Amino acid sequence: MTDDKTALYIGLISGTSADSIDAVLVRFRDGLPQILASHAHPWPPALRQRMLAVAQGEAALDLDAWGRLDVEIGYQFADAAMLVLANSCTPATAVRAIGSHGQTLRHRPGGDFPFTLQLGDPSVIAERCGIDVVADFRRADVAAGGQGAPLLPALHAMLLGAADRTRAVLNLGGIANLTVLAADGGVRGFDTGPANGLLDAWCQRHRGEPFDRDGTFAAHGNVVPGLLEALLADPYFALPPPKSTGREYFQLDWLAAHASISTLDPADVQATLLELTACSIARALAQYAPAANEVLACGGGVHNRELMRRLAERLGSRRLCSTAEHGIDPDFLEATAFAWLARQRLLKLPGNLPAVTGARGPRVLGAIYSASGSGSS
Ligand SMILES: Nc1ncnc2c1ncn2[C@@H]1O[C@H](COP(=O)(O)OP(=O)(O)OP(=O)(O)O)[C@@H](O)[C@H]1O
Ligand SMILES: [Mg+2]
Repeated sequence: MTDDKTALYIGLISGTSADSIDAVLVRFRDGLPQILASHAHPWPPALRQRMLAVAQGEAALDLDAWGRLDVEIGYQFADAAMLVLANSCTPATAVRAIGSHGQTLRHRPGGDFPFTLQLGDPSVIAERCGIDVVADFRRADVAAGGQGAPLLPALHAMLLGAADRTRAVLNLGGIANLTVLAADGGVRGFDTGPANGLLDAWCQRHRGEPFDRDGTFAAHGNVVPGLLEALLADPYFALPPPKSTGREYFQLDWLAAHASISTLDPADVQATLLELTACSIARALAQYAPAANEVLACGGGVHNRELMRRLAERLGSRRLCSTAEHGIDPDFLEATAFAWLARQRLLKLPGNLPAVTGARGPRVLGAIYSASGSGSS
């Protein structure tokens, strides 16, 4: 298949926080994406609760519930795609393909039978939108011995790499991921540990709110040094890259397993979890990106004022800023990456960076689900 230079792509993802389905309509110029429209599609609260309960290991699913959930998530992803089209008055026929990440419910890239599992039936999305869908981006990398994550560093390198300096790109999603872009073009990337996922879960439990807006709950507490040290002693933080993790690991049971938290003030625990995020990121930078003087942050965490304040303090002389300073919307970079990955798939080009994921080699990622009546692929 040849690439149509005027073709548009849609990228869809709901991250580990499951805060919304992020949808972007993208045009590529000289291979670089330009966002034409974006939409953050809220999850129906009951569906979100069900997904999170499964993702955090609090609920098991029988096969019927599993199949139904796959389709329900697919419907929501299709709605997100159709809304980004409607909002920009773009006909579906103008879109070459949708890249859909789906919703991760389990990510276990280690062990004897490594796997990663995203739900959101791509056939449902293709059928409802009338657009070809590329999905299932992570499993080819896992099958090749990789972590299946992170998949964003290749796009970070294209958009934010600099020939004269080493930069770090920090995605503050449910999990925090770091991409190190060396001045010589070398790229590394890995998950440093928890970010919004744990903060959200604690806030939901003690405040009944899905997230700690601006970090005010955390700002009212004091860091508990003993708890912070106990959490930082978790072996994940000392593991060398490549490494990736998920919500099934860093969740409230993990917190409870490390220390007795029932007697602590909930605001102090929130402050400590926020400090854990800042500290684990700062340590990872010190170890794996000592030359990076600039840290460009993206993901929902950039809106958490207290988190950004604590991070800036922990980073010392390194400069912390949002990718917005470089003209890149921090809320839609991840969705853009899945539009880019869909295009890579159609061009039969690799999507992973083996130096990042640990895969045996570059792999063309994702499978194509044709829309009914479409004979294009
Ligand atoms: N104003 C704000 N104050 C505090 N936190 C915020 C604010 N806005 C967004 N957030 C946080 O950002 C989170 C969403 O971020 P994002 O969408 O990047 O995460 P994600 O969907 O889990 O992505 P990823 O796949 O990278 O893990 C919310 O759950 C919330 O914790
Ligand atoms: Mg999100």
